[in-house]
Amino acid sequence: MEKIIEAAKVGDIPAVSKYIGDLKQYTIVHFGEEEAMFSATAYPDVEMHKQKHKFFVQRIAQFEAGFNSKNLTSVYDLVSGQIVSFLSEWLLQHIGTIDPTYVPYLKNKK
Ligand SMILES: [Fe+2]
Repeated sequence: MEKIIEAAKVGDIPAVSKYIGDLKQYTIVHFGEEEAMFSATAYPDVEMHKQKHKFFVQRIAQFEAGFNSKNLTSVYDLVSGQIVSFLSEWLLQHIGTIDPTYVPYLKNKK
């Protein structure tokens, strides 16, 4: 996340693109692993949780597409720090409040 800001500060556009792509890949892999675990548990909020993951990946993809096509809103979101704070706040909130809701189901399964 900090890498994106650093690259944006020095105007390194290809690096910004690369880091956004990396972040998107990372979240896709991480969410995929999490979702794979759900199917092995009795966790009841699977659909709600998957929707949240989907929303986040879509938001990154949307920003990535906008940024790569030099869409002004996306460039503004980056320069103003809005996209990076949105992404970090969402992730922190998700990991802190949504992810823990499936933990009891994992334990029960053992
Ligand atoms: Fe999650």
